[in-house]
Amino acid sequence: MHNYLHIEHARMVFDTKKGKFTALTDINLRVGQGEFISLIGHSGCGKSTLLNLVAGLATATEGVLLLAEKEIKGPGPERGVVFQNHSLLPWLTCFGNVYLAVERVFGAREPKSRLRERTQAAIELVGLSHASAKHPNEISGGMKQRVGIARALAMEPKVLLLDEPFGALDALTRAGLQDELMRIVQETKATTLMVTHDVDEAVLLSDRIVMMTNGPAATIGEILDVDLPRPRDRLSLAVEPRYHHLRSQVLAFLYQKHLKHAA
Ligand SMILES: Nc1ncnc2c1ncn2[C@@H]1O[C@H](COP(=O)(O)OP(=O)(O)O)[C@@H](O)[C@H]1O
Ligand SMILES: [Mg+2]
Repeated sequence: MHNYLHIEHARMVFDTKKGKFTALTDINLRVGQGEFISLIGHSGCGKSTLLNLVAGLATATEGVLLLAEKEIKGPGPERGVVFQNHSLLPWLTCFGNVYLAVERVFGAREPKSRLRERTQAAIELVGLSHASAKHPNEISGGMKQRVGIARALAMEPKVLLLDEPFGALDALTRAGLQDELMRIVQETKATTLMVTHDVDEAVLLSDRIVMMTNGPAATIGEILDVDLPRPRDRLSLAVEPRYHHLRSQVLAFLYQKHLKHAA
């Protein structure tokens, strides 16, 4: 069942000025199609490194990463990535930023009118139609993050890779975007890997939470099944004992067992 994304014995060693640095060791993970997985762990433990391996932005020193039984050898349009700092091009409008990604993926086989439709649809999906013609410096952090998500979604990725996508946002904006992300992944059925250090976010959104030990040589410590029914909403969960139990299990992992090198 869990064999869409398959990571086996992945190890990541960086060459640094001071010699070799082992960031990750013996990472084994199988993710099913349509699953929502959160990666949680202390700062510096290697969450982004692991996500980058799946994104194909870096290559594991050892081990294999397979997506639909094909080895991941570099970035690909079937994997949409959203970073914490949205990385929008400031000279393009919101529409223009999304259009650029759409053009890259579909430009060779589809007419411009269809590319514009795709762009518009992605922007609507994240609720930004009203800001489509604005430039990044004219919109809020939350809106920029929505553009980043729209850009990733517009490529119709099978896998959505999110690196602390809401990390820089205030709590209310963050809650709103979490709710939207829940709706969007339900709609698109994208398999999602999200890096977060927010325990509530992880429990609210995930099917499973992958908890990482601290580095160097970090690995997967425990994997928690989030057996809460869907659809979920934060207000009902707030009075759900199971939710609090799961939450405390993640907190116990993060703050009791693995403080050895907490950053
Ligand atoms: N390109 C790199 N070269 C050397 N060390 C790196 C590189 N990228 C990450 N690291 C190191 O690997 C560890 C994990 O980093 P990272 O994956 O960014 O952690 P996280 O995302 O969990 O905060 C850190 O100690 C970091 O300094
Ligand atoms: Mg990181």
